[in-house]
Amino acid sequence: MRILGIETSCDETAASVVENGRLIRSNVVASQEDLHAEYGGVVPEIAGRAHVERILPVIRRALEIAETPLDDLDAIAVGHRPGLIGSLLVGVAAAKSLAWARGLPLVGIDHVQAHLYAPLLARASDDLSPADWRDAYPALGLVVSGGHTAIYRCESPHRLTRLGSTIDDAVGEVYDKAATILGLPYPGGPRIDALAREAGSDDRAVEFPISRLDRDSVDFSFSGLKTAVLYEVRGRPASSRPGKAPPPPPPPLTDARKRDIAASFQRAAIGAITLKLGRAFDAHPGCRTLLVGGGVSANSRLRGDLGAFCEQRGIALRLAEMACCVDNGAMIAGLGCRLLEAGETADLSLAPVPTTAC
Ligand code: KG4
Ligand code: ZN
Repeated sequence: MRILGIETSCDETAASVVENGRLIRSNVVASQEDLHAEYGGVVPEIAGRAHVERILPVIRRALEIAETPLDDLDAIAVGHRPGLIGSLLVGVAAAKSLAWARGLPLVGIDHVQAHLYAPLLARASDDLSPADWRDAYPALGLVVSGGHTAIYRCESPHRLTRLGSTIDDAVGEVYDKAATILGLPYPGGPRIDALAREAGSDDRAVEFPISRLDRDSVDFSFSGLKTAVLYEVRGRPASSRPGKAPPPPPPPLTDARKRDIAASFQRAAIGAITLKLGRAFDAHPGCRTLLVGGGVSANSRLRGDLGAFCEQRGIALRLAEMACCVDNGAMIAGLGCRLLEAGETADLSLAPVPTTAC
């Protein structure tokens, strides 16, 4: 079974053909990073327009690479929630048009659920692990992206219960903001990752806060960390209390200091993630697999730290491959297959929805 997956929820125009819900036959992603860089973040109106220009060439290329003409497809899957409404509209309109024109089933996909299916995809049949995707469940799922930071209990690819999520910023958003504070270009996540890896960086140079919240909480809070980075770089604001001496100015932001701040920031951000995962696994001992997806799961330190965490606890770690961490069509097509099998198809009334279903 071959399914075309279309993804346009934010600033990536993406399409992919996936076979039997696991094997990636093509995975085309047209990034808009260059268009949004000068604004330091995604501008929704620009994103929507760029999707309109790119969607057909991207779909055509995905079908070409997969050597799959439209007539050989079994269904069209599209990410229809959550995301920027003007961006989602473009992918949903394209998917509905193709499904209607070719009489193909249409499947609407939740983007967050798709990020948690990405770790089960592969490029070669030898790499399919576990060979039967059902063996991964029940699992805990960690989504870490620019828009989401949450832990789920997953009974199957589309039966998910959210255990906890961020009460303020998503971790990717904080990576991007910390990078902006350090004067690095957008998107900052990969830049902080690279800076922290440079020789000589010291992740203990700054004691940034790791938010714990309540004793059993698996929610996240990253706004304190963001403020701490701001104060570390620009200095603390003066107290309004009369007679209080102004705080000393921060040391100059040398390259060495930037490296140390980036490394210390990562230690705190990722420390918060492993802390909450520990609590979640303690509360769900029947889950022996961790599924991880979303743009921040491309982070080298997170991948390493999660490897150590899972090894210590005897948990099978399933990380999305690098090309499937950020937004992509393969995760949409893969999950589309599972929903099609479950009979969960949509009709032409499928609408884009800005919020997630899980
Ligand atoms: O999943 P994604 O493509 O879009 C959303 O659904 O939000 O995630 C994008 C986020 C951005 O915040 C980006 O900075 C972050 O993923 N990101 C990284 C890395 N690569 C991408 N963050 C940390 N380290 C990386 N290597
Ligand atoms: Zn995403």
